[in-house]
Amino acid sequence: MKHLAFPLLTLMFVFSATASRAQQPAGTIPMPAVQVTDATAKPFVLDGSTQIVYPQANGKMARNAEFLQQYIAQVTGIEPVLQPAGKARPAPKNAIVLETGLQAPSPEAYRMTIGSEGIAIEGASEAGVFYAIQTLRKSLPIGNADEVVLAAGQTDDTPRFAWRGMMLDCCRHFFPVEFVKKYIDILALHNCNRFHWHLNDDQGWRIEIKKYPRLTEIGSYRPETVVGRNTGIYDGTPHSGFYTQDEAREIVAYAAERYITVVPEIDMPGHMQAALAAYPRLGCVDKQYEVWKIWGVSDEVLCAGKETTIEFACDVLAEIMDIFPSQVIHIGGDECPKTAWEKCPRCQARIEAEGLEDDAQHTAEQKLQSYFTQRIAKFVSDRGRTAIGWDEILEGGIPEQIMVMAWRNREEGIKAARQGHDVVMVPCGTLYFDFYQSQDVANEPFAIGGYNSVEKVYAFEPVPAELDDAGKAHITGVQANLWVEYIAAPQHVEYMVLPRLAALSEIQWCAPDKKDYDSFLARMDHMFRLYDLLGYKYADHIRRVE
Ligand code: ACM
Ligand code: ZN
Repeated sequence: MKHLAFPLLTLMFVFSATASRAQQPAGTIPMPAVQVTDATAKPFVLDGSTQIVYPQANGKMARNAEFLQQYIAQVTGIEPVLQPAGKARPAPKNAIVLETGLQAPSPEAYRMTIGSEGIAIEGASEAGVFYAIQTLRKSLPIGNADEVVLAAGQTDDTPRFAWRGMMLDCCRHFFPVEFVKKYIDILALHNCNRFHWHLNDDQGWRIEIKKYPRLTEIGSYRPETVVGRNTGIYDGTPHSGFYTQDEAREIVAYAAERYITVVPEIDMPGHMQAALAAYPRLGCVDKQYEVWKIWGVSDEVLCAGKETTIEFACDVLAEIMDIFPSQVIHIGGDECPKTAWEKCPRCQARIEAEGLEDDAQHTAEQKLQSYFTQRIAKFVSDRGRTAIGWDEILEGGIPEQIMVMAWRNREEGIKAARQGHDVVMVPCGTLYFDFYQSQDVANEPFAIGGYNSVEKVYAFEPVPAELDDAGKAHITGVQANLWVEYIAAPQHVEYMVLPRLAALSEIQWCAPDKKDYDSFLARMDHMFRLYDLLGYKYADHIRRVE
């Protein structure tokens, strides 16, 4: 059996050279920046004797070559031969040659040239080579074949944003290491490069901290969970789980091989009830706390008046920074009610001592959160890292080196950028993938609410026109979040993420003038077949009848 890659679409467009979509091959999401195919030139025939040639001394390139070999085998059944370069100079015929050295502004850029004698892939770094490999993988016709014919042509590609993220909450429900790896695979398929890992919340603490063993002994376990949306009925089923530091390191390494940085989040000073259950002295009142069994935002938060609480937070972050090499460390900061602080003598004493006062914009307690954030962010920056927090950290004022994740709306991102912060856009009204993806909610799994369809995600423009050029330059990226109050099973995670992640990937990767929803829908046909092949569960609302 013989398969033609870039089939009908390419041929059609080659014969109408003026058509604006002439350079778009079928199936590749996110769409490469420039892709030209030449049906008049001799194509490349990939078969079992094709070699994948890579620089022998470069371990990352050897791994890239293995990925390519596995992907080709997975999609076509053909297994090319791995060939370290050196032994095989000059490059043999019938080879895919992987090299770095492309001169480009982004280290993630690549050029891929297909000719009758082979495919030349040149990345601006090993990461660029990896993205070329992803593009090639997504261009291959699906199904076992003896050989695959790839149209001659050239792809020149580079991402729009440096931060292309996807978040997973592993607190409201715990997901095993194997699934976290699968999630990372899904991100890699969509050219994401940041995995934001939410590791603590009121309903569970999920990462081993050696100095505070009770965080996982006590804080990772809840005896039961409320049914539905805080109905008062409980399921009677214990829920628990945490990642050891070794497991977290294993995930960091797994992601790094796929050019994904794991950005850990320790959410503070709110969302800490599980930590308080483990160490009640961290609260404003030293009393018995329970790992929360319901959903929402708990009033029980870290006491910002005690020096020992700040020490605790810094100790935890020291271990986190030891596990996670990410330059950027997420310190949370969202949804911190101030009711406990208003009544707490220690918090009030801190407010007094620091001269924090209500003003027209902020309460003294909001300024206390800002004080807390600044102490924590300084600890992070003293160790050469950069803190990022949810947009509430803007309340009360913070130094501009701290990055902001704008989740409540895009206006918070605009405000942050105008104040000089680097911003990651993740507005809930568009990019929360726990929201419904269809309005026919009766036929959807129970969800938190809202409505973020694939089309709505696709239409989102992360760089607000209201910003001047300096402000625009602060929009470093865009990501989507998956909170899991109502999502307990891995397959349900996949269903909520796919195919919205495909739409997100075009926002993250493609220049705005390249986006075209009709073309995206057409290219999704192929992605859905790839999801089927890879065993990914997805929502099929936009899937067209084949
Ligand atoms: C958030 O959704 N509370 C960041
Ligand atoms: Zn307090």
